[in-house]
Amino acid sequence: MLPFYLDCDTGIDDALALAYLLAAPEARLLGIGTVSGNVAAATGAVNTLDLLRLAGRPEIPVAVGAHDFQARAFDGGAPHVHGANGIGGVALPKAEAAPLAESAAEMLVRLARENAGELRVLAIGPLTNIAEALRLEPRLPELVAEITIMGGAAMVPGNISPLAEANIGNDPEAAREVLASPWNIKLVPLDVTMSNVLEEEHRLELLASDSPLARALGEMLGYYYRFYEGIFGRACSAMHDPLAAAVAVDAVALRTAPVVHVEVDAGDGPGRGQTVCDLRGVHLGYPEQPGAHCQVVLELEEDFAPHLMAALLAPVPAA
Ligand code: BDR
Ligand code: CA
Repeated sequence: MLPFYLDCDTGIDDALALAYLLAAPEARLLGIGTVSGNVAAATGAVNTLDLLRLAGRPEIPVAVGAHDFQARAFDGGAPHVHGANGIGGVALPKAEAAPLAESAAEMLVRLARENAGELRVLAIGPLTNIAEALRLEPRLPELVAEITIMGGAAMVPGNISPLAEANIGNDPEAAREVLASPWNIKLVPLDVTMSNVLEEEHRLELLASDSPLARALGEMLGYYYRFYEGIFGRACSAMHDPLAAAVAVDAVALRTAPVVHVEVDAGDGPGRGQTVCDLRGVHLGYPEQPGAHCQVVLELEEDFAPHLMAALLAPVPAA
């Protein structure tokens, strides 16, 4: 099984990604760090611990990470998308476990050293913790087998500015550092996460499940769907973070996923937070780009919703 560190800003679609990863037979989740994004890092940790309890996996350790971004203070997150508590106002049974004393960046470095060459990282929030971990342990790119990042917009508009996606645009300095580091990166941008959606029928299936975790996810999606209704014109949602989780465990076939140079704009202009992906020649069959180490997932072979639903409705395996 692949050992994983998850970095998240829990968040409704982060909750879906966590549930997916817990159910994935390929993955062994060793630890979770939280970062501010959808909610404050401390709130994200509470949500994560409560979700782990509901999933019957309260032993998985959670560490709180960065509250503020590199160049600016956390400003309250995205309550219009995820609700004031980050999980659509749903009240989960409270966990008994508390976060660890170590920070998320310290946890990542420790797990990378303990699982050298094998650890996989899934980052589905701003990249503040990951950049901090790179500073604590410059050998991190050698120690980590690969990092999958939900973030960016290659050929489509951003979602917090015309060009910036939230996870990159909230902390462009951190993202620039992480994407420039020499590790194997899989980038899962809005191009693919906005073109794979969960529909109302899927939410109703979750609500009808015997699993308390699946039912809670169905409740949260009610809130999330209201936001996405303004974009898609019907009750449904994008699948950002769970799609990145499936890519991280190699569980979905990729149709278009070239390995290309990607740079993050961390300037002060209108492009701040943009992921500039060099997709020249993509239509010619991706001529190799020397030194490129970022695989940009643009298109899947199949609709992701059935795969995600099967995972969310499956019982969570015991530890
Ligand atoms: C990303 O931003 C957050 O709001 C979501 O959880 C996802 O990780 C989408 O842009
Ligand atoms: Ca997220």
